[in-house]
Amino acid sequence: MNIMFQKTNQRMFGTFPLKGDTLRAAVAAAIDAGYRAFDTAQAYGNEADTGLALAESGIPRDELCITTKVTVENFSQERFMPSVEQSLQDLKLDRVDILLLHWPTPGGDIRLSLELLQDAQERGFASTVGISNYTAAMMRQAKQIASVPLVTNQVEFHPLLDQRKLLAAANETGIPLSSYCSVARGEVFKHPLFAEIGAAYGKSAAQVVLRWILQKGLPINTMSTKPDNIRSNFDVMDFTLSSIDMGRIDAMNAVGYRVVGKRLIPYAPDFDV
Ligand SMILES: NC(=O)c1ccc[n+]([C@@H]2O[C@H](COP(=O)([O-])OP(=O)(O)OC[C@H]3O[C@@H](n4cnc5c(N)ncnc54)[C@H](OP(=O)(O)O)[C@@H]3O)[C@@H](O)[C@H]2O)c1
Repeated sequence: MNIMFQKTNQRMFGTFPLKGDTLRAAVAAAIDAGYRAFDTAQAYGNEADTGLALAESGIPRDELCITTKVTVENFSQERFMPSVEQSLQDLKLDRVDILLLHWPTPGGDIRLSLELLQDAQERGFASTVGISNYTAAMMRQAKQIASVPLVTNQVEFHPLLDQRKLLAAANETGIPLSSYCSVARGEVFKHPLFAEIGAAYGKSAAQVVLRWILQKGLPINTMSTKPDNIRSNFDVMDFTLSSIDMGRIDAMNAVGYRVVGKRLIPYAPDFDV
């Protein structure tokens, strides 16, 4: 089974933009809550803090699922492999579970980065590899180029954004999506529907949003600094949203709210709508 879709790994703890003591406290709270899957990236500047926090947790390595991402500045023959080796050193690991390309290569020529990614896997630096922020067209291209399975396309995915085209591309290419910004950095809480639906299940708005994503078939990925939120974001496996409620939440796609677009990342590609 795809490593991301194992039951515990379906709930990832995101580490952006945490650093230092704040990150270590959040990771410790996440471990206590039951999280075993953690998401970091070279660009977050927190791989060393994440490595320290995970080492301090005392959790055996084989129970953890660690994702990191290579930043686009390192998509060259000279820089790619040394950057991955540095990530491993910072994370105190000899391999990560999932290594992703953080963004499509600016300009759209994705081939070299995918070849380097596969090289990193062949060298044993990563158990599995994947992509992030790829459009539907890029997923199809990646499928043609890659000779190893791409275990995920990690993308912004929450009820306020219509990602049906990407879901269709995932079905077509066999590259499954996973979610980031699963609560849209808090934007979902401006919409009363989620709390309203949650009341019927004895669940919070955040839990309803996360459950909707899981029922769409995607692993979730949230960050929180608050132990109560950390625990409740993990506690989403004991209820099922009805198809009527799933449909009401589907309709929120019309809001069209994207957190990580060109305003934050100038080379972010437009998703297909
Ligand atoms: N691949 C990529 O390009 C990419 C891009 C962005 C993010 N990511 C990854 O995805 C992870 C998650 O995304 P994100 O952190 O950007 O956004 P997010 O998880 O949607 O939102 C995090 C924010 O929501 C709040 N929050 C979380 N749970 C809550 C709850 N139950 N109730 C109320 N507020 C809650 C947190 O505040 P409190 O601390 O107050 O709880 C925090 O400010 C990141 O940490 C990162 O690892 C990847």
